[in-house]
Amino acid sequence: MFIGVDLGTSAVKLLAMSNEGEILKTVSVEYPISFPQSGWSEQNPEDWYKGTIEGIGKLLESVSDKTVDGIGVGGQMHGLVILDENDNVIRPAILWNDGRTTKETDYLNTVIGQDKLSEYTGNIAFAGFTAPKVLWVKENEPENFAKISKLMLPKDYIVYKLTGAYVSDYSDASGMLLLDVKNKCWSKEMLEICGISNISMPELHESFDVVGEVKPEVCTQLGITGTPKVVAGAGDNAAAAIGTGTVGAGRCNISLGTSGTIFISNDKFSVDDKNSLHSFAHADGGFHLMGCMLSAASCNKWWMDEILKDKDYAGNQAVITKLGENNVFFLPYLMGERSPHNDPLVRAGFLGMSMDTTREDMVLAVLEGVAFGLRDSLEVARSLGVEINISNICGGGAKSPLWRRIIANVMNISLEIQENDEGPALGGAILAAVGCGKFANVEAATSQLVKVKEVIKPEPELVAKYEEKYATFKKLYPTVKDLYKA
Ligand code: XUL
Repeated sequence: MFIGVDLGTSAVKLLAMSNEGEILKTVSVEYPISFPQSGWSEQNPEDWYKGTIEGIGKLLESVSDKTVDGIGVGGQMHGLVILDENDNVIRPAILWNDGRTTKETDYLNTVIGQDKLSEYTGNIAFAGFTAPKVLWVKENEPENFAKISKLMLPKDYIVYKLTGAYVSDYSDASGMLLLDVKNKCWSKEMLEICGISNISMPELHESFDVVGEVKPEVCTQLGITGTPKVVAGAGDNAAAAIGTGTVGAGRCNISLGTSGTIFISNDKFSVDDKNSLHSFAHADGGFHLMGCMLSAASCNKWWMDEILKDKDYAGNQAVITKLGENNVFFLPYLMGERSPHNDPLVRAGFLGMSMDTTREDMVLAVLEGVAFGLRDSLEVARSLGVEINISNICGGGAKSPLWRRIIANVMNISLEIQENDEGPALGGAILAAVGCGKFANVEAATSQLVKVKEVIKPEPELVAKYEEKYATFKKLYPTVKDLYKA
């Protein structure tokens, strides 16, 4: 069997896939996240590894044949993991949705300059990217900076612990702002700008390359028979795209997880004039463009768990009838926003309530606000001439039929739902199967393994209503953004 791992922000999700491509079992293990200050977010890399080991153990519990052929890990992107010379984690990982690096991001974009950054990497600086975090540690924690011996991304830490291989893959490394994405090599200029040209960086690989084998002691600990090969893996969005069959040129995947992303695959490297979308490598060996909103399904989780204190998500959504007619708007900027505003300081809010506003209106406003935020990224892609009429969709939020319908209508696109909705974990297992030689390449694997179960079509009347609502939503960010600057 092959094991796919999705190292997420709220939990690690794992899946076992038989050699024939059948999903045998899925499990997930949650771990804590800390928000030490408003807009900061950190996790302990050791919790990720403990969760992954516990998850593999649970996967294998009820399986009689414990032979594992390969493992592929997809993981939350951009996080900074630093190890000292004894391989101890120096400080908690600073995550993709952490907005502490306003100063460093401004420095990179204005003093170094966006033109230079784009020339070196194909991208400009966003607060969540890894390079500004390296500069932040250098400036604010010089004693920690001096100890850095290895610097890696979250899923690379898991691969390192499982195999001892210090590696990364092109899709995930693209989000560090340290990789020359077009030429698929570390950018000497960026390593110098960040003061890390003396640190040896992870060896780079395609996502489906086998980079090592699970250490014998880990196999013994987990009761694994065989010697599982481990592939380099991918950033979670590229892994999710593999899991939904978004490979080759001109296909789209929407991921509705803690973050919300629009991922457009391409066989060639491309970059837009303003670098509005991220220009990254894909896990199929090609490239992609991507827009990322920082809080997507997490807005609904926050609203339901922390504010309404009600775990019945489906029940709260079942009573909603007012689609396209809601006067309440929700701005989904709980952690600031990446695409398209690149504004770590803005915060979330409700607008438009009156004495007759109901709980249902506010539940709906949260779902709609996220859909409008995703549409903002889609509009950037459309403005670049990318035509998108159909997209795959995956992630925890995509399990909600109501939310899927809202997204299809707010965006005016058809949405394809796959038989298996474990996007990134399935992507990881597929990459492992390709690496182990089960398939000639990623495209051959996805065309055999990924099946569409359902298509959701936009409804013209609802599309027209949402078009009007979106016109109002678009005016809200420019209206409030200056409030947060101070
Ligand atoms: C993508 C991004 C997020 C994380 C979430 O650029 O920051 O989608 O990868 O895990």
